[in-house]
Amino acid sequence: VVPKLRDVFAGYFRIGAAVNPRTLVSSADLLARHFNCITAENEMKFERIHPHEETYAFEDADRLAGFAREHGMKMRGHTLVWHNQTPDWLFEKPGGGLADKALLYARLKAHIDTVVGRYKSDVFCWDVVNEAVADEGSELLRESKWLRIAGEEFIAKAFEFAHEADPDALLFYNDYNESHPAKREKIVTLVRSLKARGVPIHGVGLQAHWQLRSPPADDIRAAIERYASLGLKLHITELDVSVFEWDDRRADLKSPTAEMMELQERRYEQIFRIFREYRDVIECVTFWGVADDYTWLDHFPVRGRKNWPFLFDERHQPKPSFWKVVNGA
Ligand code: XIL
Repeated sequence: VVPKLRDVFAGYFRIGAAVNPRTLVSSADLLARHFNCITAENEMKFERIHPHEETYAFEDADRLAGFAREHGMKMRGHTLVWHNQTPDWLFEKPGGGLADKALLYARLKAHIDTVVGRYKSDVFCWDVVNEAVADEGSELLRESKWLRIAGEEFIAKAFEFAHEADPDALLFYNDYNESHPAKREKIVTLVRSLKARGVPIHGVGLQAHWQLRSPPADDIRAAIERYASLGLKLHITELDVSVFEWDDRRADLKSPTAEMMELQERRYEQIFRIFREYRDVIECVTFWGVADDYTWLDHFPVRGRKNWPFLFDERHQPKPSFWKVVNGA
């Protein structure tokens, strides 16, 4: 008999999955059985939920929130401020040209009040700011319209607005390449300065889009330690284990090789061993999908290249990786 992930990890952390209106239906059984937390893969992002200044589109997000409610699951909110999947109108002033800071903040405040307010009783935590830190170079923050218009203050503002909209919500800074030592230190610098200024921030989200070999386990451990030392909660927010290393652009595999599956098994065993070690700080581990029949990695970074990053296969059966994860707990 196949144990339920959410029961196996009940004493450790919640087990989450990113969902969309399609997987909510196609993976409903797996979701209800194994998971106790969901994140909307796209449906709460700015361009989807607030496509025009006067128009909100809640239908899809409402459906996901309804599923969570029916199944007694928690929901993570994703995301309020990001450089991607954000509509152009937000940054433009009437008549053309870049909006000024006051207009941008007024719009952001209205957006956050509306969206965070609407999902107050469903969403227990928000990825308030996503991916604001620069990957390369000496700059702390990445180039974006947010930064161009408002300077680095936009980050603190977003957290303040979110806190005003729902004082009970846990507020997170979320990013990828979170285990690379150089970027890790930038994230630490940012978060520490927010805390020092009294900005309401409660956690760091480690996206955890990882590969079979990278990042090395020591870097993962070091990142968790370092973020935890800030006195914040940690969520693993978007876990997947790509069978391709980042620079591998092969696109002709119809199924994963035996070597890939073996490496993935050992990788998942290693990753969950680390998560269990840090059960006191990690309160939620969310996969960026449910099963191998659908993953955003089928289109990233190579369009149309199939990937197999999860614990359940294309037919929704537990993979050897599943058993490694479960038997270690
Ligand atoms: C991805 C979705 O999975 C895709 O469907 C969409 O086309 C692009 O965004 N980091 C994040 C997520 O914070 O929101 C991204 O989700 C994956 C990378």
